[in-house]
Amino acid sequence: MIKVRGLTKSFDGRPVLKGISLDMGECETVVILGPSGQGKTVLIKTMIRLLEPDSGQVFYQNRDIFTLSKKEFRRVQENMAFVFQANALFDFLNVRDNLSLYLHMHKKMSQAEIATRVQAAIQFVGLDPSTLEKFPEALSGGMQKRVAIARAILQEPRVIFYDEPTVGLDEGNVEKVIDLIELLKKQVCATSVIVTHDISLMKRVADRVALVRHGEVVFTGTKEEVSDDMLRRLYSTGVDDEQ
Ligand SMILES: Nc1ncnc2c1ncn2[C@@H]1O[C@H](COP(=O)(O)OP(=O)(O)OP(=O)(O)O)[C@@H](O)[C@H]1O
Ligand SMILES: [Mg+2]
Repeated sequence: MIKVRGLTKSFDGRPVLKGISLDMGECETVVILGPSGQGKTVLIKTMIRLLEPDSGQVFYQNRDIFTLSKKEFRRVQENMAFVFQANALFDFLNVRDNLSLYLHMHKKMSQAEIATRVQAAIQFVGLDPSTLEKFPEALSGGMQKRVAIARAILQEPRVIFYDEPTVGLDEGNVEKVIDLIELLKKQVCATSVIVTHDISLMKRVADRVALVRHGEVVFTGTKEEVSDDMLRRLYSTGVDDEQ
């Protein structure tokens, strides 16, 4: 479904991605795990063409997304949803409008149908329907995250990209977000690409794992193949060398 080949990216002469290659299959949950500051966000932003790589390709269903025109890429983009680290909800819109916006802009649907879908999505993520009338600032971080996931689901994407979906959440909300990722995996066959430094998240949801250190993929395999020793090395050298 998605193939990443030899991605490199430097900022101010400092290499952040050093030739990343990865495959993500249909309906697969791929967790890209690594310590802080290793280029995970840069990688995910490059995969969705928010950043241009210095070299390398990202193939979406065998088409290199960087060779597509803006118009062609927009069509590809309709199959992709993002749950950003900071959720990226619009502060000036209530939750209902945050959730409806994409459907209004991209789908030919009646107001009534949009309202029904929005209602279903908010229930799917376990939030009370009264949340729809609230503004993002009135919600906790965990609730905002669930709204961001509801917004992603409403797009009916083929791929969902998550950047650190559990960061900054308390234990209860971490559990809810993990449950949601698992529920989504069972109910819709979307490919999930999750970048995180959260080992327990990886152990819960991953079908496949890529370990990233210093801008390179140092291991890919199933979560069962990831040993404690690999994780120790990933986190110790990763962070120490950076400083
Ligand atoms: N737009 C940019 N301009 C300059 N440097 C950048 C830019 N974006 C990222 N970097 C640098 O690239 C490196 C990797 O950043 P990135 O945000 O991808 O790390 P990360 O693995 O996502 O870390 P975290 O776990 O903290 O989110 C950092 O040193 C960062 O300062
Ligand atoms: Mg990041």
